[in-house]
Amino acid sequence: MEDKFISFQDYTFQYRAQSEPTLKHINLDIKKGERIVIIGASGSGKSTIAHSLNGLIPFSYPGESTGTLTICGKEVKTLSIFELSQYVGTVLQDTDGQFIGMTVLEDIAFSMENNCVPQDEMIQKTREEAVKVQILEKLDASPHQLSGGQKQRVSLAGILVNNVPILLFDEPLANLDPYAGKKSIELIDQIQKQTDTTVILIEHRLEDALHMGADRIILMEDGAIIADEPPSVLFASEKLKEAGIREPLYITALKYGGCMLEPSMKLEKIQDLLLEEEQKKQMRQWFFYRKKEKKEEEKQVILSVEDIHFGYTEEKENLSHISFTVKEGEMISIVGKNGAGK
Ligand SMILES: Nc1ncnc2c1ncn2[C@@H]1O[C@H](COP(=O)(O)OP(=O)(O)OP(=O)(O)O)[C@@H](O)[C@H]1O
Ligand SMILES: [Mg+2]
Repeated sequence: MEDKFISFQDYTFQYRAQSEPTLKHINLDIKKGERIVIIGASGSGKSTIAHSLNGLIPFSYPGESTGTLTICGKEVKTLSIFELSQYVGTVLQDTDGQFIGMTVLEDIAFSMENNCVPQDEMIQKTREEAVKVQILEKLDASPHQLSGGQKQRVSLAGILVNNVPILLFDEPLANLDPYAGKKSIELIDQIQKQTDTTVILIEHRLEDALHMGADRIILMEDGAIIADEPPSVLFASEKLKEAGIREPLYITALKYGGCMLEPSMKLEKIQDLLLEEEQKKQMRQWFFYRKKEKKEEEKQVILSVEDIHFGYTEEKENLSHISFTVKEGEMISIVGKNGAGK
């Protein structure tokens, strides 16, 4: 049972509004406590997998399914939406529609209130979960006044109060800036470790998603699973590229540099990479060779900025000592935190 905590067996699903099945012959077993990342092009069926798990299919999106889908050995078809909500908690990309309470506290406590949990216990549990998701100081605020990352944490706390064994995230990073996204993933990682929940994370931003260690990546294409492998095995192959999914940049760089990638090289995180001395040398050579190649064709400077200062008001300078040049045909990015002056 622990190995087939979630089990799709030859599962096919067709939305009533569609003329063809959206999910085709899905076979997928997920163990208790596993961390799964689902990736795939837009429209490949990732959210449809999520809807099948959390009951939106068939309760909100009707259709026909064949094959079986079981959670904890129970066929999902036989469960009510309430029963399913005891197993699966979902955090969506746009959490606004999920808020019910006037304050963060009310929102986190909502499901306990529904289940007639005594007041004292309810407040204690709400505070405990608010600490876990680092939102304690916002308990009296309206959920709509919070930042994207904070809203997501409130949403997560509202799920954690129910001690659900499966946490499902559908593109949780889409609306967050890189810093907030990183913090979100770290929080998911931490909660997974503390509670041994099964985590299913659907995300386009693969490198960010893998900031939380993943046991397996499920790659979807056109409603089917085309790869189900640990990150290091998948990255050593060409499957992501073939499916039109961008690999992490360091993987592409290693491949360009001519390194033969093996799963044993711990490819899942750039900071864990194991490269032989010979491979390091090869990468350095490639890097310096590329640099030289560029230098050779010196291009004309078409924009030159020297020591610019600017302020919208007299009191505050918004730009100080700005100097840079742009050459013909160059492509540049300007990056920086919110309010940095980009
Ligand atoms: N509620 C629905 N009713 C009918 N068809 C739907 C519904 N939701 C999704 N589909 C169809 O199912 C297919 C897969 O959609 P799904 O939302 O699962 O893709 P996805 O992989 O999550 O894409 P994205 O990365 O854009 O979120 C699409 O062709 C879509 O049009
Ligand atoms: Mg989706």
